[in-house]
Amino acid sequence: MKGKFIVIEGIDGCGKTTQINQVAKWLKGSNLIPNKNQLVITREPGGTKLGDSIRSLLLNTSKETAPYSITELLLYAADRAQHVNEIIRPAITKGDWVISDRFTGSTIAYQGYGRKLDIKLIKHLETIATDGIAPDLTFLLDISVEESIQRRINRKGDRMEEEGRDFLSNVSLGFKELCANKKWKKISAMKSEEEIISEIKLEIKKLLNNEKNG
Ligand code: TMP
Repeated sequence: MKGKFIVIEGIDGCGKTTQINQVAKWLKGSNLIPNKNQLVITREPGGTKLGDSIRSLLLNTSKETAPYSITELLLYAADRAQHVNEIIRPAITKGDWVISDRFTGSTIAYQGYGRKLDIKLIKHLETIATDGIAPDLTFLLDISVEESIQRRINRKGDRMEEEGRDFLSNVSLGFKELCANKKWKKISAMKSEEEIISEIKLEIKKLLNNEKNG
């Protein structure tokens, strides 16, 4: 049986890492994943060795050497193509579960709504990079732009995080619009960690029940 593919998305500072650790802990202690299968935790950009290099090109660069928006889009797509082929597809095919910190939603939100690149072009590249692999469930951890800025006030951000308020507002709008899709679940990341994890658990259980009942 094919494994499950779950994605966590959100604007910078929404607490993805904390929640991914919590879900991983819960899943490993549950009997939801068959004994012979594993839980794979991964991320974009950077879920592979090549992807780590692409991540560094994308994020650890100064304004002077920053990629053009179209170059940026192609690099995220290249990272994804590698990630899907090297990690995600083989894992799901053998029945493993995959949790990814970001996936295609981030490209729609950041490059589409943030950079204003053509959504049709982004979706076309998505089709090429993913070749039919899509998440079973995507969680948006929702915080306001103000909260995102506040939570990151004392740390130096990467190139994307330094883009400023207007850019982030557009990205945030993009994520909210993606939640119209029934495979997306928006969770307020202003709630306590316990409340957030219990909502995530509930949705994962619902997904499994729906599949069981056809
Ligand atoms: P993070 O791993 O700390 O969330 O940082 C990744 C950054 O890359 C974040 O600012 C969002 C950005 N990003 C995009 O702009 N487009 C994408 O397709 C992905 C996956 C991430």
